[in-house]
Amino acid sequence: MKGQIGLIGLGTMGENLALNIESKGFPVTVYNRTAERTRRFAERLNRAAQIIPTYSVDEFLDSLEASHRILMMVRAGQAVDEVLSVLTRRLSPGDIVMDGGNSFFRDTERRMQNMAKVGIHYLGVGISGGAEGALKGPCLMVGGPEDAYSLVESTLTKIAAQLEDGPCCSHLGPGGAGHLTKMVHNGIEYAFLQLIAESYDILRYGLGFGIERVQRIFERWKNSELSSYLMDVAAAVLGESDSDTGRPLVDLILDKAGQKGTGKWFSQTAMDLGVPTPTIDASVSARYISAHRDERLKAKTLLHIPQGEFTGGDENFVDALQDAVYSSVIISYAQGLALLKSASDEYQYKISLAEVCRIWGGGCIIRAKLLDQIRSAYVNNADLPNLLLDASVGSLLVNLQQNWRKVVVEAKSLGLPCPAINASLDYFDSYRRDRLPANVIQAMRDYFGAHGYERVDKEGRFHTEWLRD
Ligand code: 6PG
Repeated sequence: MKGQIGLIGLGTMGENLALNIESKGFPVTVYNRTAERTRRFAERLNRAAQIIPTYSVDEFLDSLEASHRILMMVRAGQAVDEVLSVLTRRLSPGDIVMDGGNSFFRDTERRMQNMAKVGIHYLGVGISGGAEGALKGPCLMVGGPEDAYSLVESTLTKIAAQLEDGPCCSHLGPGGAGHLTKMVHNGIEYAFLQLIAESYDILRYGLGFGIERVQRIFERWKNSELSSYLMDVAAAVLGESDSDTGRPLVDLILDKAGQKGTGKWFSQTAMDLGVPTPTIDASVSARYISAHRDERLKAKTLLHIPQGEFTGGDENFVDALQDAVYSSVIISYAQGLALLKSASDEYQYKISLAEVCRIWGGGCIIRAKLLDQIRSAYVNNADLPNLLLDASVGSLLVNLQQNWRKVVVEAKSLGLPCPAINASLDYFDSYRRDRLPANVIQAMRDYFGAHGYERVDKEGRFHTEWLRD
């Protein structure tokens, strides 16, 4: 038996993808740099499984069918380049290498160009869905040469999550289009997680609700217009008790959020392209603030705030919070998709945002009911510069805004941080204004730096001699 697909990297995602691919009828050859891991995986396999464990790169390549189809599931960064340099020595023109990790899309571009020089097809495959998705059906965002995609399409579409309107797998464009889309997915994921965390904080420490009551609210929300995978996850984690102490597990988890870099890349790319994405930026920063726990502990003893009391009125306020979270989630998608559009234009990827919304509908971490409405906006207008300019999304936000404002005002008066909800409302308020105070910034830049300014009443560039005696 020869493997039809070779998989390198047996982390949880790699293992589960191997099982998923095999379950769809494709024999898989697997290899991991540390042999012990491969051995342990092999021991757990069912005897009939068409999975071939291998312990060297040579053995790996020899046990694959002649036209090599390889999926790398290795950590983004240097490890990818290392694996590629070993592989390329033995690959032949026409072979296909897919990077299924969370690589930065510009790195994927570079690798694709290098591989093309030796005739090897390279695809950047953004894979979302976590461990469970990898096993049962992830969302696959593919970028790279279309002819190479057509050679692996039948495998990729079979292992993907399936929806009524097709598999959650698509060739989104050339170059780094797949990994760019995955990076944007992750930026939205950061915001979604932060918004859930903020609403938990407001319920628990603003309204003073017990964990059971908070959990019941998330149970309700997960069956509302907020219905989404991450709401399901929130309701599940808040309901979990620690087996040793019986206490709510979240109370025992240290409040320091980790990150592997995709959120940071999102914000860096947005800054590079001049696309405002404050909700996602705030969510990345919120993780950094959480990580500075030692400083926070010192600051707590120094930086007192006036004791405020919650004045919101319980159940009405919970409904207001639901609207605030819903609005802010919509804003997160708007910012993410605005970046995706801008980057797609900049790099000429021609990504269809409607298709992205379709495949995000299943398998991935940010799958959510509201994606149907978002998708319709891009089906109606493929060139929509910003989701907020879609009439139906716009009027939805207009209707939610009173509650959204109420939540921000109440949280601020209690000294509770809600950076993502707040940044979303500020984005909304800035985006809908015809005149921003940037005129004052321009005047001051001209005062101290003679940078010049434009005027509202005549064409051209102007400078004022501000320092007249
Ligand atoms: C997914 C996720 C996944 C990501 C983790 C961790 O779509 O399955 O986006 O790819 O790696 O969620 O990301 P952070 O460690 O940066 O939070």
